[in-house]
Amino acid sequence: MAFRDVCILLMLLLALTYGEHVKFLDCGSSVGKVALVDIHPCPKQPCQLQKGHSYAVNVTFTSGVASQTSKAVVHGVIAGVPIPFPIPVEDGCKCGISCPIQKQTSYNYVNQLPVKTEYPKIKLVVEWELRDDSGKDLFCIKFPVQIVS
Ligand SMILES: *[C@@H]1O[C@H](CO)[C@@H](O)[C@H](O)[C@H]1NC(C)=O
Repeated sequence: MAFRDVCILLMLLLALTYGEHVKFLDCGSSVGKVALVDIHPCPKQPCQLQKGHSYAVNVTFTSGVASQTSKAVVHGVIAGVPIPFPIPVEDGCKCGISCPIQKQTSYNYVNQLPVKTEYPKIKLVVEWELRDDSGKDLFCIKFPVQIVS
């Protein structure tokens, strides 16, 4: 199955269930505005992420600019140090956003956060950015999570 199909399948699955609104901090959405962040499943906060599982992230935001592309960059911040956190699909245009992105339009960015079994059992902050053509943040959100076994 292609990455694109995985994303579409995920969106369909997610649409059938309810995401949980999580508390987040905006870490500098310079060319956009975030309305909501849903993570599924996350019955209590901070979200408990079980190793070997994958979590759906749904960010509702409004773009302040037009952009042909969008690229996600995810970091796990551990004791203040940002460490790159690989996600399967970096291209936001394959994750619920129909590109080109238009100014003053609301989008749902839907992707998944895979939690590898080799990750340590720690609390950390996930920092998720979506960058436009010029590398500016359409959104930058931060939320705490706890990795559990
Ligand atoms: C993402 O969240 C928005 C706002 O809650 C919702 O309208 C939309 O259906 C969600 N998208 C998916 C794929 O679940």
